[in-house]
This record gives sequence, structure tokens and C-alpha cells, in this order.
Amino acid sequence: MARAGLILRRGGLVAFPTETVYGLGADALNARAVARIFEAKGRPQDNPLIVHVAAREMVDPLVARVPAHARQLMDAFWPGPLTLVLPAAAAVPREVTAGLDTVGIRMPDHPVALALIRSAGVPVAAPSANLSGRPSPTSAEHVLADLGGRVEVVLDGGPAGIGVESTVLDITGDVPVILRPGGVTAEEIAGITGRVRLDPGVDGRAGNGGRPAAGYRPRSPGMKYRHYAPRTPLILVEGDPGRVTARVQELAREYLSRGRRVGILASAETAPLYREGQVVVAGQRNKPSTIAARLFALLRRFDEMPVDIILAEGIEPRGMGLAVMNRLRRAAGGNIQRV
Ligand code: TXA
Ligand code: MG
Repeated sequence: MARAGLILRRGGLVAFPTETVYGLGADALNARAVARIFEAKGRPQDNPLIVHVAAREMVDPLVARVPAHARQLMDAFWPGPLTLVLPAAAAVPREVTAGLDTVGIRMPDHPVALALIRSAGVPVAAPSANLSGRPSPTSAEHVLADLGGRVEVVLDGGPAGIGVESTVLDITGDVPVILRPGGVTAEEIAGITGRVRLDPGVDGRAGNGGRPAAGYRPRSPGMKYRHYAPRTPLILVEGDPGRVTARVQELAREYLSRGRRVGILASAETAPLYREGQVVVAGQRNKPSTIAARLFALLRRFDEMPVDIILAEGIEPRGMGLAVMNRLRRAAGGNIQRV
């Protein structure tokens, strides 16, 4: 840990586990170190990074102002999977904010992440430690598969628990706005702030789920890219649960009859209904956190399976189901059937 901290302080890159997904860290106050993150990931320059802190005192030098709700939200959810978008201080390099006047900050709930930040003694800018566009890594093996040779150190903390990224919440305006659904649910945030809105980019209202409609400018720049995608094409079927299963069965037969190999991402409840295709159980439909925990690992696993097309069942976009559906819609890249 001492060595990893030193590498960060000297401008190097360290990948590390958090409770959500693995991050690719650099000293957030060192513009050149941060630029190396973008290089290693092949990340578009206009997509800002989240700054990770290990203590509340580390927030003050990074922000110009502490908006209403900030402290209550930190009390309720830090350390944890909530990123707060706050007015940025001038000290934050534009490589981190991608030129925005805000900065996203979170305190991860993972002993290795916290120890690393403390050891470095600096705030740590870290996106998810995947190649840009790929599913986020939930194990050290995923990080090595994407970034091996491009990063000085990978700290292995075993599988990430939550499995989807933090919720990104903009609290610079009157009503908090969820820019990316994640490990803290909209319902839980509303329990603290009273009101909360969903950015139109979150649930597909701004476009066909994959890409926002023309003219819509996402407030979280990351939302405009195809993301979380396996290499194998994925079709997402969403809507009434009974009809979803019927439509997936129908599509499976259609593809199989054309000689294509079909993978089905199903739930524990629905898996027994499928007689064809390679069925993979994501988790329980009525407990979306179980699906979140395995989703990215399964999307990667499909690429190792002899499968030409993935048919994914949608679930109800409530609670953690909203984050799961947001990731699935974007993995589908607009390939969505509503039934
Ligand atoms: O759980 C997580 O948040 C993980 C772990 C490593 O902490 N990190 C992560 O980072 O998912 P990344 O870079 O893959 O996603 C950050 C998201 C992007 O959609 C980005 O556009 C958004 O947060 N974001 C960051 N700073 C922002 C800002 N100032 N305003 C709006 N959106 C911001
Ligand atoms: Mg990411």
C-alpha cells in the first residue's frame, strides 16, 4: 500500500477495488497524471472523472461552494456509492472536469480504496478501470484483461460487491438531479432530499436508450457514449414481464433457425422457461441488486462463449433495477424491443 501510494504521488496509475467497480486512479491534482488515465483507457477527452476522497476534509479544497443537501447526503451515503456533482474550485485541473465548472466527488466504501487514498495523501481521480466502451471491471482479472501493461499497479480486492457504478447526483441546482443511476437508488435519495429528478438521459426518454435524441445535450457527458457493451451484439427486450419472456423465446427460435448461436440473459425466475439457446442466470428479477452484482461479469463472459447474439430480458426499472436497465440499454446501443 505504501508503494502504491508513492506511485500515485509520483504521477503513476494504480487500479484499485471499490464497492461498486474497479477504478483507474491518478493524483487528481496532477494534470499530467490525469492525462495518462485518458490515454490508458482510450477515453474521450470531454468525459469528466470522479474524484475519490478518504475524508470529508479532503472535499473543501476541491469545491467552490457546498450546496444545500450536500452535508445531509454525505451523512446518509458516505462512504458509499454516491457521487455528488458540486461547483469546482479553481485548483481542480480541467483534465478532471473536462472543462465543466463542476466536479464529481465520492468517498468509496472499500477498505483498500480508502487505504490507498490515505497512503497517497492526495484526492484520487478515477474512472472505471476498463477500456473505454467495455463493461466496467468487477474483478482484478477484468482490469488486467483490459489494461494489463498500461498501468503500474493493480490492487486485487476480490470481486466488487455492488457491481454497478455509483449514482451521479447533481446538487448544484434547486432540485437534485440523477445524471447516472447507480448503487444508491432514487428512492433512497428522495428519502433524504424530498425531491429528486431523473435527467432525461437516464431512462431513455432522451432517445432510444442507447443514444440520446438529436438536440439533447447530456449533462453527464459520459451518457452520450455507447458503453458497457460486450463485443457480441445484444438485443434488450423490455416491457410487460410475461410478454418479454414470450418475445425472447420467439427471437431465440428465429435466430436459431437461421443458424445463429443464441445466448439468453435471463433471471432465476424465468430461466426454466427457456428450452433453447445458452441460458445464463443474471440474478433474481425481484431482487435487482443480485443482477447488478453479476451483470458486467456476465456481459464479459458472453464474449468468451460460442454465441453470436445475446438476448437480454429487461426488468422493472425501480430501485436498483433502474441502474441495471440503464446499463443494459446502453449495452444494447439502441437495439431495444419494447413489448
Ligand atoms: O462507481 C463509480 O463511480 C466508479 C468507481 C471507480 O468509483 N467510477 C466511475 O467513473 O464509474 P466513470 O468515469 O466510469 O464514470 C463517471 C461518470 C461519467 O458518466 C461522467 O460523465 C460523470 O460521472 N461525471 C463525472 N464528473 C461529472 C461532472 N462534473 N458533471 C457531470 N457528470 C460527471
Ligand atoms: Mg466508466
